Amino acid sequence: MANKVKTIGVLTSGGDAPGMNAAIRAVVRTAIARGLNVKGIMRGYAGLLAEEIVDMDSASVADCINKGGTILYTARCQEFTTEAGQKRGAEICRNHGIDGIVVIGGDGSFRGAGKLSALGINTIGVPGTIDLDIACTDYTIGFDTAVNTAMEAIDKIRDTSTSHERCSIIEVMGRKAGYIALWCGIANGAEEILLPERYDGDEQAIINRIIEARKRGKKHYIIVNAEGIGHSASMARRIEAATGIETRATILGHMQRGGSPTCKDRVYASIMGAKAANLLAEGKSNRIIAYKNGEYVDFDIQEALAMKKDIVEEQYKIACDLVR
Ligand code: ADP
Ligand code: F6P
Repeated sequence: MANKVKTIGVLTSGGDAPGMNAAIRAVVRTAIARGLNVKGIMRGYAGLLAEEIVDMDSASVADCINKGGTILYTARCQEFTTEAGQKRGAEICRNHGIDGIVVIGGDGSFRGAGKLSALGINTIGVPGTIDLDIACTDYTIGFDTAVNTAMEAIDKIRDTSTSHERCSIIEVMGRKAGYIALWCGIANGAEEILLPERYDGDEQAIINRIIEARKRGKKHYIIVNAEGIGHSASMARRIEAATGIETRATILGHMQRGGSPTCKDRVYASIMGAKAANLLAEGKSNRIIAYKNGEYVDFDIQEALAMKKDIVEEQYKIACDLVR
């Protein structure tokens, strides 16, 4: 077997996501089961460059599967985007005897993982982001918890919106992607779902539909707006002025990233973390674990990063039929 791996590291990078702890736990315990040593790298690539590296054993990951956030902390690190930073990172790995790394994060983190791999450190990516915006996979760690958190919050806003006979714009996260907005829009029975991938900016059409809905007797009007469109507060002011209906904007923000992970996020993250550790134990490198068409698979990092992703058109069409 080429590249026999003895000691692996694990880090979380980019925005945290509920379920990351389950993935870390699975990496650590699977690696130990394969006879490997494990080191935790704190605070993503920033912690690697600062040599914040700790030994991990089975007990290090006790009591964390039910917790939100990441026990390894996370960070964004500008220095690691430079060639000098990446070379120093690989050198630090060698100095600490780390010959393989599991990187739990999003696309940006995987670009860094690809660089480490090219520098001779076996590297496997595990998709961890609430945004679901990684092209090679139908599932990312944290999305399920985030949409459930947002759904519950939107249900609550709907109650008060109905009582006051208001229009409510609720902005959900997702960076440039509209997956959280689409899922909440369907799950919350929203009247409008605004996705960056589809929204044509025709606010007058929305205003006309709100006026029509009020004439039909609708007591509330829920607009789920994606962060990638944004401007919810000014949109609310314009809608109120044009319709005469009180309109409030709520930006759900970071509450969507926290909280105890759902069963799905715990189980999928555990399986992905275990698969990543197993690939390293087999001497593999430069792969991303993915869940595609109902199966756990892995892709070459560069091929995965070159893939494009869009909202599933059928889901969008169904959502459009259900909104009004
Ligand atoms: P995510 O992984 O969630 O997409 P970011 O895009 O913020 O989050 O990326 C996380 C980290 O990954 C960055 O702070 C940086 O350290 C590293 N990274 C991002 N892009 C690159 C790149 N092109 N080359 C090397 N490292 C990168
Ligand atoms: O990628 C996860 C995410 O929560 C995005 O939905 C959002 O755009 C971004 O991170 C927010 O980042 P920060 O925590 O740095 O404000």
